[in-house]
Amino acid sequence: MTFSQRLVGQFRHPRGALGRLAGFIMANRPYNRLRNRWTLGLLDLRPADQVLEIGFGPGYAVAEAARRVPQGKVIGIDHSATMLAQAGARNAEAIRRGRVALFQGDARDLSALAAPVDKIYSANVVQFWPDPAAVFAALRAALKPGGTIATTYQPRQRGASAADSDRMAASLQTVLEHCGFEDIRVESLHLEPPVICVLARRPAEG
Ligand SMILES: C[S@@+](CC[C@H](N)C(=O)[O-])C[C@H]1O[C@@H](n2cnc3c(N)ncnc32)[C@H](O)[C@@H]1O
Repeated sequence: MTFSQRLVGQFRHPRGALGRLAGFIMANRPYNRLRNRWTLGLLDLRPADQVLEIGFGPGYAVAEAARRVPQGKVIGIDHSATMLAQAGARNAEAIRRGRVALFQGDARDLSALAAPVDKIYSANVVQFWPDPAAVFAALRAALKPGGTIATTYQPRQRGASAADSDRMAASLQTVLEHCGFEDIRVESLHLEPPVICVLARRPAEG
């Protein structure tokens, strides 16, 4: 396996020195940063929102989100110990002040949450879930009634095209509907290939 193939494999579950390099790339690559800021912009964050990020990687979006909810809190879950360390260092001050809390765990295990949240987001994580319906069912239960979820994806494989982005958007719409979300809509960011974000709401009653 080439170095570049080994590095690409790290984005699913960063580990050790190569994982730290993957985290450095994610925190610094302009497309990556833009994708995360764009996702947060779509979430219509309010100052006191409680926000959950799934798969926070190096914690760039956690820091951005914390700035946008000055009276709220950002909670993050990622299964990588390497990313927990990197995101923890990046957000150390906010963690000390109780404005950010980061946990190592799987997207389906939300036992770290003390209470349901107002908003949930993820960026380029959904493609790694073997059973997206099970994850979205868990995330729906972690949202307050009326709360919003944003799921962002940009295909990264060699030769990826708009058709790959569209396929993921269609499949996310189907699974979100199946899991009982409403007001499902797709937004696009015109990069090459396009970034899609599928937003949905937990019904106000139910
Ligand atoms: C491609 S990186 C994206 C990181 C970050 N969202 C960003 O945009 O910079 C995917 C991240 O999701 C995490 N991840 C993947 N599958 C996960 C799962 N089932 N549960 C928790 N974290 C997961 C990985 O450890 C990694 O940090």
